[in-house]
Amino acid sequence: MRTVHTVAELRQQLAVWRAAGEGVAFAPTMGNLHAGHLDLIHTARREASRVVASVFVNPLQFGPSEDFSRYPRTLPADAEQLAAAGCDLLFAPSVEEMYPHGLPLTTQVKVSGVTEMLEGLFRPGHFEGVATVVNVLFNLVQPDVACFGEKDWQQLAVIRRMVRDLRLPLRVVGVPTRRESDGLAMSSRNQYLGVDERRTAAVIHATLMTIAHELQGGARNYEGLEQAGMQALEAHGFTPQYVAIRTPDLQPPSSQNKNLVVLAAAFLGKTRLIDNLPVPL
Ligand code: PAJ
Repeated sequence: MRTVHTVAELRQQLAVWRAAGEGVAFAPTMGNLHAGHLDLIHTARREASRVVASVFVNPLQFGPSEDFSRYPRTLPADAEQLAAAGCDLLFAPSVEEMYPHGLPLTTQVKVSGVTEMLEGLFRPGHFEGVATVVNVLFNLVQPDVACFGEKDWQQLAVIRRMVRDLRLPLRVVGVPTRRESDGLAMSSRNQYLGVDERRTAAVIHATLMTIAHELQGGARNYEGLEQAGMQALEAHGFTPQYVAIRTPDLQPPSSQNKNLVVLAAAFLGKTRLIDNLPVPL
């Protein structure tokens, strides 16, 4: 695997592959990789003959009180894992290389209809930052396929809608959430958890499972289920922000829906965790 830090080197390598008629699958990340990220690379491998990953901690998507400066940066270990997973090219630019005209950017991508709720309410500006950086990365890499994790369900919905609305010439592939053995969704933020918090953290997944079983058993009292989920999290010491039952594109559910998703965000101590569970009915 080759690692490049500049747009010029990235373009040069891509041009060689394009000239040889090869397709490109792309997995953007912020690094500090775990097995969930590597699942994106394995999926990408099946989708195209060349796999490109990016590692870039994007300042645009962090709020002023969020963890941009202390977000773990582990590029050498990331590169090793990506190479072992079958990645061909790692693009790891500096902030200056990504945003050469400085910040704040004068152009931003705002996706409506899927960003006003849930994460968008609690992290104002976050999805503009995500949509903007992903759009820039798509323009630089020009992939045929882009892989995103279902772990960030709302982010995946935002990217799908952006690709649809802006007519971007690529296909978005969603990858199921990779979990620890106790059900906790793998996340770079899990390492912020203390030992006791780490034990408690699996309660989020258990709570989502309980709601999923209720729904699959025929329950349709959505608000009651959401409130019971919030209370279960509180009882275990979380400070929950939302527990929400939605359609796959984040709209309020109705009894007609054949698929729903249950989503949750909660603080455990200082660490903010999110998770979700797709529920086929
Ligand atoms: P990051 O949090 O590093 O995640 C990169 C990709 O890995 C995302 O598509 C995310 O959904 C996926 N992912 C994370 N944990 C996962 C898990 N446990 N199982 C499966 N997939 C998982 O998401 C971002 O970075 C950024 O917002 C980014 C898209 C790179 C834009 O900056």
